[in-house]
Amino acid sequence: MNIREAKLEDAAAIAFVHVDSSQTTYRDLLPNDHLNKFSYKKRANNWKNSLNVSTKAQTNYFIYVAENPMGEIVGFIDGGLVRGDSTYQGEIYALYILEAYQRKGIGRSLIKAIALRLSQSRLTSIMVWVLAGNPAVQFYQALDAQRIGQKLIKTRGIECTKIAYGWNDIQVLLTE
Ligand SMILES: CC(C)(COP(=O)(O)OP(=O)(O)OC[C@H]1O[C@@H](n2cnc3c(N)ncnc32)[C@H](O)[C@@H]1OP(=O)(O)O)[C@@H](O)C(=O)NCCC(=O)NCCS
Repeated sequence: MNIREAKLEDAAAIAFVHVDSSQTTYRDLLPNDHLNKFSYKKRANNWKNSLNVSTKAQTNYFIYVAENPMGEIVGFIDGGLVRGDSTYQGEIYALYILEAYQRKGIGRSLIKAIALRLSQSRLTSIMVWVLAGNPAVQFYQALDAQRIGQKLIKTRGIECTKIAYGWNDIQVLLTE
């Protein structure tokens, strides 16, 4: 599996992974009519905008992708400065891998890549928000994250709980 920084032309492939992986991940956690509204086209446009930021020289925002041996993008991660008030400096915004490629060590490798990049930007701690009930909780626990908080959010009429996990010392992720 090849891990590399994302390029401008990756927007559509990242959007494909984002929509498909979200639909399989949240099928038992969020209503179907919400999941069916996810659009490849809208997501691709959003990722185009994000890639425009991440590929600029002076930025604290990064996107990495994982490619299979055929050069197809099967997972991605993005992260940067923490959003909102927090004692943590950095944040993983999204991490998604296609279902067929999960549990093969790709998540671990993507986290390591972004942690290295954020630590090079002098960020010393990092956190992530995860939907309650998502098995990804066990993934973060396996990577020695500490549970640091939770919040109730409402998006498009759907109420759900998000749990925050954090690493006080980003270096822990570099040795994982
Ligand atoms: C969560 C996710 C990113 C993990 O990446 P991954 O490549 O599947 O995980 P890894 O193979 O690197 O797993 C590392 C360790 O984490 C733990 N782990 C990972 N997924 C797990 C799961 N579903 N249940 C229990 N433990 C899990 C295991 O200890 C695993 O080590 P092992 O396979 O040797 O037992 C990936 O499964 C995914 O994209 N899920 C769907 C999207 C999602 O939920 N993203 C997170 C949003 S916050």
